[in-house]
Amino acid sequence: MTSYKLIDFKTLGDERGSLIAIEEGYNAPFQIKRVYYIFDTKKGIERGFHAHINLKQIAIAVKGSCTFVLDDGSSREEIKLSNPNQGLFIEGLIWREMKDFSSDCVLVVLASEKYDEHDYIRDYDRFLKVVNNDS
Ligand code: TYD
Repeated sequence: MTSYKLIDFKTLGDERGSLIAIEEGYNAPFQIKRVYYIFDTKKGIERGFHAHINLKQIAIAVKGSCTFVLDDGSSREEIKLSNPNQGLFIEGLIWREMKDFSSDCVLVVLASEKYDEHDYIRDYDRFLKVVNNDS
């Protein structure tokens, strides 16, 4: 299964402010085994440039904004994340690049697996071969 979609998180809160909870089986379609975050990204930097074989992820710009470029091997789409109440869910073979980080951007990523370099495809030509069952 290869897909991506934006998830709208329900914002809880009261007169004190807002709160969002992310929970397996409620608004996260996988067990969360790892959390990492990207921040203090220098101006003009682009990151990512890889696909994952098995990993499922949800990326949330909890502060600031950035843009994901998502490529399924036949088309590319850009999705801007700029709202802490939206998460970008990605599963399967999607080539992703991230760019246009605002200087205050904090991008939190929830992942279904621990870090495993073997799950990465970092070469775009190899990605195309794997997507086309040609590897
Ligand atoms: P990298 O995959 O290059 O980041 P991005 O895809 O956002 O450009 O990761 C940068 C470094 O951090 C690299 O040496 C691997 C390491 N890393 C971990 O050790 N654990 C992790 O969970 C992640 C995402 C990266």
